[in-house]
Amino acid sequence: MSDTFTFRVLATDGQARRGEISMPRGTVRTPAFMPVGTAGTVKAMYLDQVRALGTDIILGNTYHLMLRPGAERVARLGGLHEFARWPHPILTDSGGFQVMSLAALRKIREEGVTFRSHVDGQVYEMSPERSIEIQGLLDADIQMQLDECVRLPAPREDVERAMELSLRWAERCKTAFGDQPDKAMFGIVQGGVDADLRARSAAALSAMELKGYAVGGLAVGEPQQVMLEVLEATCPALPAEKPRYLMGVGTPNDILKSVARGIDMFDCVMPTRAGRHGLAYTRRGKINLKNARHAEDPRPLDEESDCPAARGYSRAYLHHLVKSGEALGAMLLTWNNLAYYQGLMADIRTAVEAGRLGERADEMREEWARGDL
Ligand code: GUN
Repeated sequence: MSDTFTFRVLATDGQARRGEISMPRGTVRTPAFMPVGTAGTVKAMYLDQVRALGTDIILGNTYHLMLRPGAERVARLGGLHEFARWPHPILTDSGGFQVMSLAALRKIREEGVTFRSHVDGQVYEMSPERSIEIQGLLDADIQMQLDECVRLPAPREDVERAMELSLRWAERCKTAFGDQPDKAMFGIVQGGVDADLRARSAAALSAMELKGYAVGGLAVGEPQQVMLEVLEATCPALPAEKPRYLMGVGTPNDILKSVARGIDMFDCVMPTRAGRHGLAYTRRGKINLKNARHAEDPRPLDEESDCPAARGYSRAYLHHLVKSGEALGAMLLTWNNLAYYQGLMADIRTAVEAGRLGERADEMREEWARGDL
């Protein structure tokens, strides 16, 4: 295993890439899906189970962990890997995006962002330097720059101002991060749905020679076609030899289409959140276990799945658990959904290696469209 952070492209298929990110805590096979572990837990899952599904890296959140239990406390307890018992790679988001969606009384200045915590109402300040300091206290292997993501639709001037502020914050984060060969700090491309602003943001970040690049500000309610056009304007403007991460995306179909446009990494609450709301992802599409049609159905979700949650319980039982609000319902459906997502990623990696991503994507879409078993 390498003691420095490296990325290698092993195979390509059109714009799609099959690669490997190596760092001392492990190797991430790309295209990769990172389950969301906001507060140091992938909700309703043991991390051993998350690992067993083929997960190479999970995501943690600066915003949540700084508020509770506090970054300094996590550091005193040995860092996030030790605290949560996940010895493999962790990527942390920087906090900017979560401040915008969760905190009250947000104020953005050149210096940083001030906000009121949604946990205890206390006022906090977070500068780009403090965000990197917190991510260092957590001991995250991949750290994200602090950025500003504006809610869309917004006037072009606002999107441009936020994109430029994010570039200045990227420089400050790069300086604060310094020289850490075993870890990485990624920049985040902003610029809304404007191809021009996106290309400018991508070019300016590329010139900073960071170890990886994310595309932010997407999957915030825009149509899929708009997101794909942004990726088409952005990915070619990023260096081919660095990993590309599309933040907060997405559905299985979003992932297929984004890989085809050059994206290597994804994170999304969809499989875990849907699992807690009674929705199951399967190779035949989504199943809503709340629906009464499952009440006496003795069949499992998918008897061909490798996942015990998909194979080993009747739909009738899952329906009962979900309707009763039982914790086990959330646990089994989250397990099923993450198994589906990690199976999808393995399938994508194999298809890119074989140079048949397009065909495989068509086959998968046909299977989803056939509907439930
Ligand atoms: N997660 C989803 N979108 C974003 C974004 O634009 N910025 C950050 N920091 N995190 C995100």
